[in-house]
Amino acid sequence: MSIAERKDSHLALCLSEEVELPGGDATGFAALRFDHDALPEVDLAAVRTDVELLGKKLAAPIVVGAMTGGTPRAGEVNRRLARAAERCGVAFALGSQRRMLQDPASRDSYAVREAAPDLRLLFGNLGAVQLNLGVGVPEVRRLVSEVGCDAFNFHLNPLQEAIQPEGDTRFAALAPRLAAVIPELSVPVLLKEVGAGISRTTARKIAALPVAGVETGGLGGTSWARVESLRAGDPARKSLGETFARWGVPTVESIAACRAALPDRVVIASGGIRNGIEIAKALALGADAVALALPLLRAAERSSEAAAEELERLVQELRLAMFLTGCTRVAELRDRPLSRARDLTAFP
Ligand SMILES: Cc1cc2nc3c(=O)[nH]c(=O)nc-3n(C[C@H](O)[C@H](O)[C@H](O)COP(=O)(O)O)c2cc1C
Repeated sequence: MSIAERKDSHLALCLSEEVELPGGDATGFAALRFDHDALPEVDLAAVRTDVELLGKKLAAPIVVGAMTGGTPRAGEVNRRLARAAERCGVAFALGSQRRMLQDPASRDSYAVREAAPDLRLLFGNLGAVQLNLGVGVPEVRRLVSEVGCDAFNFHLNPLQEAIQPEGDTRFAALAPRLAAVIPELSVPVLLKEVGAGISRTTARKIAALPVAGVETGGLGGTSWARVESLRAGDPARKSLGETFARWGVPTVESIAACRAALPDRVVIASGGIRNGIEIAKALALGADAVALALPLLRAAERSSEAAAEELERLVQELRLAMFLTGCTRVAELRDRPLSRARDLTAFP
């Protein structure tokens, strides 16, 4: 299957199948609760969600997560999402730009600055493993300049690649390759997982690299083992994907691990974040911002306006969580304690 066919099949599967972990609390967010403050001593109207991320001012600490590009359909999704991000003043991340390396004409599907010129923060994207497969500094520089991105995500997805029939699994000596390439780029670089999370072990290795930050891509949201299992034709590969669907580091644990190992770098929380309360919890655990992918894809499938409404809902919920914990600024959430939740309704 070509990269273009694979990109469209990923979109189709994510829109039509159950690609998230079912039920339960795989991310870990439900097990945590804020101390509700019935006497918050702030006005709801005074609550502000604006932040600065990687030197750019955002209306809220939210990134439209990295998803797609490379085909006409993907281009339409990117434009809808980028316009929604522009309207709401949040950041936007492109999906893997690998297709641009093979087919320069596919650039159109990534050229979101033309559709959304006032986008405040744009991330480029490539699989880090490509650096072991012939991609070097000149190619990555070209990916950055041709889309005019402000920062660049290299994704780390060993589980997904291992389940994919056409996957690239040559991860040996990738850390020194990253250490050599990153300083040669003109924009800040982040490393991100795609749904299996960044563990304490990985975060410690990342601490030695010249990266500006990480995105957790934690366990509990879109499962790439599951997506690749659904795509796989042969039963053995299908079963391998299902067996590993729950493999990884829950988002809550990944945020804490990344913040501890990377105290001075940007930490973006992602993986199964679905409402503003979870955004507030991610920020209280130490994240600087959050990214959401699947729910925004589903909204953008309807329209750019629907994606903007989804973003507005998230901001509204975050503001309410801030009000109820007595915060008027996002940074104050960092001092708000989270305790283990006990579900009293579960008692007889
Ligand atoms: C349709 C789709 C395509 C994705 N493609 C990419 C990609 O090309 N590069 C990347 O770094 N992450 C990619 N991701 C992963 C997301 O950025 C994110 O890490 C992951 O989906 C977890 O977030 P979620 O649970 O909110 O979906 C993709 C996600 C979706 C849903």
